[in-house]
Amino acid sequence: MGIVMTVKVTVTGAAGQIGYALLFRIASGQLLGADTPVTLSLLEIPQAVKAAEGTAMELDDCAFPLLRGIEISDDPAKAFDGANIALLVGARPRTAGMERGDLLQANGGIFGPQGKAINDHAADDIRVLVVGNPANTNALIAQSAAPDVPAERFTAMTRLDHNRALSQLSAKLRVPVSEIRKMTIWGNHSATQYPDLFHAEVGGKIAAEQVEEDWLRDTFIPTVAKRGAAIIEARGASSAASAANAAIDHVHDWVNGTPEGDWTSAAIPSDGSYGVAEGIISSFPVVSKNGRWEIVQGLEIDAFSRTRIDASVQELIDERDAVRELGLI
Ligand code: NAD
Ligand code: LMR
Repeated sequence: MGIVMTVKVTVTGAAGQIGYALLFRIASGQLLGADTPVTLSLLEIPQAVKAAEGTAMELDDCAFPLLRGIEISDDPAKAFDGANIALLVGARPRTAGMERGDLLQANGGIFGPQGKAINDHAADDIRVLVVGNPANTNALIAQSAAPDVPAERFTAMTRLDHNRALSQLSAKLRVPVSEIRKMTIWGNHSATQYPDLFHAEVGGKIAAEQVEEDWLRDTFIPTVAKRGAAIIEARGASSAASAANAAIDHVHDWVNGTPEGDWTSAAIPSDGSYGVAEGIISSFPVVSKNGRWEIVQGLEIDAFSRTRIDASVQELIDERDAVRELGLI
């Protein structure tokens, strides 16, 4: 029997609402599997450390067999020390009427110092998932502050959008989600994202051919792309349990691999595939093999899809240029 190493998972914004939905699932083994012991490292701002301590007390009270320790800090250098996985959740959530662009300035300052702390203190195999919005560009900021970490280890979350797309299509066609394959979210985790039904398959047939064109264009795409705003409107707070669930899915698949015959969506640094500007962190159809994301190659992109992918990529380029001007990358 090999030695099973304890994996250190650092969660920022641990006292927030996503943190509360996330930590218990990590500690129960749903992130990495039922054989992998974990240590949790919770990073918070000083005024929220006490609340994080309360969550840690509750984690203790679950007596999770896989949970080997909990650390709490307001110092990124300590929180990321030896981290194998970093979930960067802590950020300011969007409130009603606020657009993501407004968040660039507010959140940019958080992710540079965290990227540097990851660079200087994390374990060599560190994998980073950015959840805090604007997630793609925050990931770019963190990545550019961590020149010693391979760029591909910095990713941003579009798995929630992917899961939303699966759910909307499942309801439309009245098929279980498990019958849908090859869903893709392209571009930015924002209202410009493009959920693609031209490569998705239901019962082995292309999904776009099983729905009306106007439903795809006027209902499906905007419903998925604006779901985050619809949740805020309904709940009075941004999505939390579904976001935590998607973060679990993303890291689980990254570490353990994606199922044969399917792919998923993740925002990863572009290598120029599908004409997406190299270096920006954009969502693609991806598989995970041997612990690495690979972009699915060779898909034909028609004019309808091209226009939408290009629009979302352009938004990411604009965000990159904006944070460059602010000196954040
Ligand atoms: P929240 O306000 O409930 O919690 C955020 C927490 O982060 C707070 O406890 C705050 O103290 C902490 N924090 C702030 N700055 C920090 C820092 N520098 N270091 C450590 N912690 C810090 O927010 P939430 O609902 O948990 O959402 C968190 C983020 O996730 C938001 O940006 C939200 O927009 C985003 N989000 C992303 C997705 C996605 O699909 N990518 C989905 C839902 C929410
Ligand atoms: C979401 O998609 O639910 C989050 O990113 C919240 C938001 O601001 O849309």
